[in-house]
Amino acid sequence: MKLNTKHLLNEIDFNAYKESVSAINESINNMTGRGNDYLGWADWPENYDKDEFALIKKTAAHIQKHYDTLVVTGIGGSYLGARAAIEAIKGLLPQTGVEIIFLGHTFSPTHTKQTLDYLKHKNFAINVISKSGTTTETSIAFRLLKKLLIEKVGVTKANQAIFATTDPSGGALRKLSTINQYTTFTLPPNIGGRYSVLTAVGLLPLAVAGLNIDALMEGAKKARLESINNIDHDLYKYAIIRDYMYRHNYKSELYVVYEPQFAMFNEWLKQLYGESEGKEKKGLFPTSVSFSTDLHSLGQFIQEGSPILFETILYVNEPLEDVIIPSEKENLDELNYLAGQTLSHVNRQAFLGTLSAHVNEGKVPNIIFEIEKLDEKTLGYMFYFFMRSCAISAYLLDINPFNQPGVEVYKKNMFALLGKPGY
Ligand code: PA5
Repeated sequence: MKLNTKHLLNEIDFNAYKESVSAINESINNMTGRGNDYLGWADWPENYDKDEFALIKKTAAHIQKHYDTLVVTGIGGSYLGARAAIEAIKGLLPQTGVEIIFLGHTFSPTHTKQTLDYLKHKNFAINVISKSGTTTETSIAFRLLKKLLIEKVGVTKANQAIFATTDPSGGALRKLSTINQYTTFTLPPNIGGRYSVLTAVGLLPLAVAGLNIDALMEGAKKARLESINNIDHDLYKYAIIRDYMYRHNYKSELYVVYEPQFAMFNEWLKQLYGESEGKEKKGLFPTSVSFSTDLHSLGQFIQEGSPILFETILYVNEPLEDVIIPSEKENLDELNYLAGQTLSHVNRQAFLGTLSAHVNEGKVPNIIFEIEKLDEKTLGYMFYFFMRSCAISAYLLDINPFNQPGVEVYKKNMFALLGKPGY
C-alpha cells in the first residue's frame, strides 16, 4: 500500500512535525503515552500468543467440519474488523465454506427475529465476543441465540457449539463460559476493542471463513517492522496530513472505496478514528462513501457543497475478479464502445474522472492509498498501519486514543429508562 499525496492541494511542511512525531513514536515504543495500559496492540504482531493462535486454527477447522454457519455475536471493536476482512476477501455473496453471519450489533427487533428465523434451519455455532461481557446488544443477542441453539440441539451440544472471546479473568461472559465450559479465547486486558482485530476477536471468525490468518499476521508484522523506527513512513505522513487538515478547517475526513465488498473497511476506520479521536471537542469527523454508488447521491455535495472535507481514497489496483462487457448486435443501449473492456477498466476511469472533478474543479483535497491487491497479507498490513497511525494522530491532538468516555452517556440514559438496577 502506497500513499499518494499529489492531489492534496496543500503544501505540508512534514519536517515541522518531526520532533513531535518522533517523541510520540518513542512514547508508543516505550509504552509511556497517554492510556499506555492499552498499548498492547503495538507489539502484538510479533508478541502475540502463539499457543492461542494454534488453538484458533484448530478450533476453526473443527467448526468448518461440524457446522454450516457461524454466528459472530459482538458490536463495535468486537465485530467490525472481522466483518470488514471477511467481506473484503470473500465478497458479499460467498458461495463456499462456512457462512458467517453477524448479530449482537443492533437492538432491531425485525433484524433479530429474521436472523433467528433464518438460523432455525441452519446447523450453527456461535462465537460470542465481548471484552466487558456486559454489552447489552451483544448480551441480548447471545441470550436469544443460546436459547434457540438449546431448543435445537440440547444443552450439552449447545455448550459445545459456543465459542467465547472475552477478558481472560473478569466479566460476565468469562463467568458464563467457565460455568458452561465453553471453549474460550482471550482479548488481552491491554488491548481495547477497536485495536483488537488481530487478536482472537478477529482471528477466529476469519479463520472459520477460510482466510489465511498466518498471512494476515505476517502483513501486520511487516507494517510494524517497517514503521517503528522510521518516522518517514507513510503511516506518520498520514497522521500529519490529518492533523494539518484538521487545523486548516477541514473538519471531516471522507473515506472512499470503489468496491462495495470493501465498504465495511470504511466502517472499521470510522470506528477506529471516531472513537479514538472524537473527544474534548476535538477531532476530524470520519465519514465514508462507496463509489461509484454514492456518486449518485453524495457526489453532488462533495463536488459543490460546503468545503468542510477532504477525501481519503482506498483504491485497489488489481481486483479479485473481473468481468468483460459483452458486445450486442443491435447496440440499442449504445454500450458497444465498451464491448470487450473490463469492468475494472471502467471502474478505474470512474476513479480518475472523479478524482479530477473533485480536486481540480471542486477544490476538495484528496489523498490516495494505492492498494495493489486485497489479500490477507495486505489487510493485516492495513489494520496495523491504521491503528498505529490513529494513535499518532490522536496524540498529536493531545487526546487519549484508547478510552471512550462519551459512549457511556447514552448507556446510562438507556439503562435508567429500561429500569436496570443501580441506574
Ligand atoms: O472500541 C471499543 O472499545 C468499543 O467499540 C467496544 O469494542 C464495543 O463497545 C464492544 O465492547 P465489548 O467488547 O466490551 O462488548
